[in-house]
Amino acid sequence: MKQKSNTELLLEVKKEVVSFTNSPLYKERVESGCFPVIGEGDHNAEIMIIGEAPGANEAKTGRPFCGRSGNLLTEMLLNIGIKRETVYITNIVKDRPPKNRDPFPEEIELYYPFLERQINIIKPKVIICLGRFSSHQIMIKFNIEEEVKPISILHGSVFKGEADYGELKIIPLMHPAVAIYNRNKKELLEKGFLTAKQNI
Ligand code: URA
Repeated sequence: MKQKSNTELLLEVKKEVVSFTNSPLYKERVESGCFPVIGEGDHNAEIMIIGEAPGANEAKTGRPFCGRSGNLLTEMLLNIGIKRETVYITNIVKDRPPKNRDPFPEEIELYYPFLERQINIIKPKVIICLGRFSSHQIMIKFNIEEEVKPISILHGSVFKGEADYGELKIIPLMHPAVAIYNRNKKELLEKGFLTAKQNI
């Protein structure tokens, strides 16, 4: 039998997230006329970027990181010579938590199987985690939970992880949202992306 392509497999994940009525965030999504945010980019990307959860712009459009944090992310990537469309960008939680609250641990767990499938389909060599929720969840799932620390300490670290398909690098960075209005944080974020670049 012909093997399914990454695009076909990712479409299957998308369809399941779209009809994920088990999620406590599903009702809110439908009632507000919003979309889940599955991910976008190269389906064979070597670099996968994992954020937290969609914000208002993302839920309106169904696209990850398309607001102010997204613009900063695109800028950071270009700074290190990476075009946004050459990576795959997604989130740990695929639906918007109301009023942009932090995702609950049970929501992170509930959506993780979709992310795990996306990782195993795309098979990235590097995962860049943006923010503490994404960083901690990925570190726990890749059995490096003993290294879990506040994101201010983890920022720019490089860890080795073992995926079903082989070894990969996990690089936690602070979330771009914290650097939008803060010049010092923006410089720190730039440094973090430069470290990431040196390890890709
Ligand atoms: N912040 C995130 O973590 N993800 C998005 O998609 C947008 C903002």
